[in-house]
Amino acid sequence: MSDNGNGLRLEGRKLVVTGGARGIGYAIARAATRAGAAVALIDLEQASVEEAATKLRSEVNGAEVVTEVCDVSSYEQVSGAERALEARWGRTDTLVNNAGIAHHAPAETMSVAEWDRMLQVNLSGVFYCSQVFGVPMIAAGSGAIVNIASMSGLIVNRPQPQVAYNVAKAGVIMLTKSLAAEWAPHGVRVNAVAPGYTRTDLIEHLVDTDMCRDYWIGGTPLGRMGSTDEIANSVLFLASDAASFVTGETLVVDGGYTLW
Ligand SMILES: NC(=O)c1ccc[n+]([C@@H]2O[C@H](COP(=O)([O-])OP(=O)(O)OC[C@H]3O[C@@H](n4cnc5c(N)ncnc54)[C@H](O)[C@@H]3O)[C@@H](O)[C@H]2O)c1
Repeated sequence: MSDNGNGLRLEGRKLVVTGGARGIGYAIARAATRAGAAVALIDLEQASVEEAATKLRSEVNGAEVVTEVCDVSSYEQVSGAERALEARWGRTDTLVNNAGIAHHAPAETMSVAEWDRMLQVNLSGVFYCSQVFGVPMIAAGSGAIVNIASMSGLIVNRPQPQVAYNVAKAGVIMLTKSLAAEWAPHGVRVNAVAPGYTRTDLIEHLVDTDMCRDYWIGGTPLGRMGSTDEIANSVLFLASDAASFVTGETLVVDGGYTLW
């Protein structure tokens, strides 16, 4: 029996993580394989998702990793990925909706295309994947979904203007509660993790800025950014049977940022 070090196990699980080629998604995939799950990495580009799968197999001895190329903002592509996985390994029982994009733009000048893209990837994509992978879970009477929201779904971050991101992530939190209520009778739990500032490619180009030092780290009671593994550990808890009586919850993992 494998153990991720925290006593949480996912033996026998088939877990899909969207945006799994890097960052938080990759760390989730690594934690899940260490906990005994077979993992499917879904991402935009064949080369990067294959590279990530190879890296994961080398990092975790015996890891069972498959890949699918899919843009989560396309319902057709999500359906295609689910069908391909169904043919490959049967029913997916655990879904982590992690794929997301970030974009800073003032509300008064943001284009309609920028707004639409943000909502399409960060909110509609979560719904599409939840429905497509959720239907077979409902039919089987069990499943677990974990959505990666953000503390930006709860508060307005400073100083960057990011109205569309904030709105999309607030939507993910309410989507989580709504699906949890609708699908609880079917044995499907739906929860979310709301990360604070976490060091990944999404924000790497901003790490050495005054904005990051003064506002992001300065505004975090624990005085640092989070690591991808710290986010992955919370996802693992919510996905595992250790959280069997938890549904509709958003676990904030932000070093205390939302306290101030
Ligand atoms: N990094 C942070 O500080 C932070 C904080 C709060 C929430 N989050 C959330 O965590 C999640 C992961 O963020 P990250 O920092 O690891 O980002 P990242 O940019 O490092 O990785 C995101 C991954 O998602 C993939 N992706 C993007 N759009 C996609 C699409 N349409 N379809 C499929 N895959 C797609 C990318 O190719 C990439 O591999 C996002 O939902 C993000 O909003 C991140």
